[in-house]
Amino acid sequence: MDYVIGIKDEFNQHVAEALDCQLVELEKHVFPDGELRPRILGETNLKGKKVLLINRTNSGSAYKPNQLLMETLFTVKNLNSLGAKVDLLLPYFPYAMQDKVFRPGEPHAAKYVLELLKSSGVNTLFVVCAHMQREQGTLKFAEGIIDAHSISVFKDLAENLKNYELENPVVIAPDFTSGESADKVAEALGASDSKAIHKKRDLDTNETIINEEDITGLEGLDVIIVDDIAETGGTMAKAIDLCKKRGAGKIICAAVHPVLAGDCLERIKNKGADFIATNTIDSEISKISVEHTLAEYIKKYD
Ligand code: R5P
Repeated sequence: MDYVIGIKDEFNQHVAEALDCQLVELEKHVFPDGELRPRILGETNLKGKKVLLINRTNSGSAYKPNQLLMETLFTVKNLNSLGAKVDLLLPYFPYAMQDKVFRPGEPHAAKYVLELLKSSGVNTLFVVCAHMQREQGTLKFAEGIIDAHSISVFKDLAENLKNYELENPVVIAPDFTSGESADKVAEALGASDSKAIHKKRDLDTNETIINEEDITGLEGLDVIIVDDIAETGGTMAKAIDLCKKRGAGKIICAAVHPVLAGDCLERIKNKGADFIATNTIDSEISKISVEHTLAEYIKKYD
């Protein structure tokens, strides 16, 4: 890799250092009418250079997936026009939850995003714990569209969770699709058990309904609730209530991607649970740094 392109923040600096290359600054500008002008500052002589563009979002009201996408598409095309060969790291893959057409008339948004990235000129795409494939490897969902990889950071999550003084914790996936990830976290932590809850979501109201029978017997046990995304916090909140009902002791919620829409943060904290996440999205709970893990994976494809 010749250059990393991105805003000048610690995350991008760390990835650039780990890849042993210079960070070329991307300046993001939003015009008063909302239109965008991402500008490459400094090095624009990129003919024949291999670059890694990194674009990351912030949480809460600053989470702007559409802005992120447009900035990315413009910058990839711009880099291509300057002669660079572009790989892209989107730590959080926006629209990944729309990985199928759930109801007639809806867009297959995750697929369309991949197609847009490919047609803008992305060579290889790296994302973290993609919703449709949290485990590490080539992203099968993207096959036939773009060379894409999902990088797992559940080990980083587990490492950080070791800092808590927990007695034989039980790891719980609040959604069955996170079951495999919870197993991995439990294994890395040497936790006593791992359980997953079946969840359904009402697509009209966004209300989550969980199967309470999936969790029993937590009397006096500490619990870690692990999920890929915390968006409204509804899923985790329901899981916390159930764990308390089953007699759990300390409860820690750990998410890879803290989208933290609306009052998500308060919702979890008001229930007395600790809440931590990785820095794939910048937020006040993004305490787990994953730059090194990402750079190690990306190096293999350089
Ligand atoms: C859904 O399938 C995901 O794995 C998460 O469980 C979901 O995104 C959490 O969303 P919320 O925080 O809005 O309940």
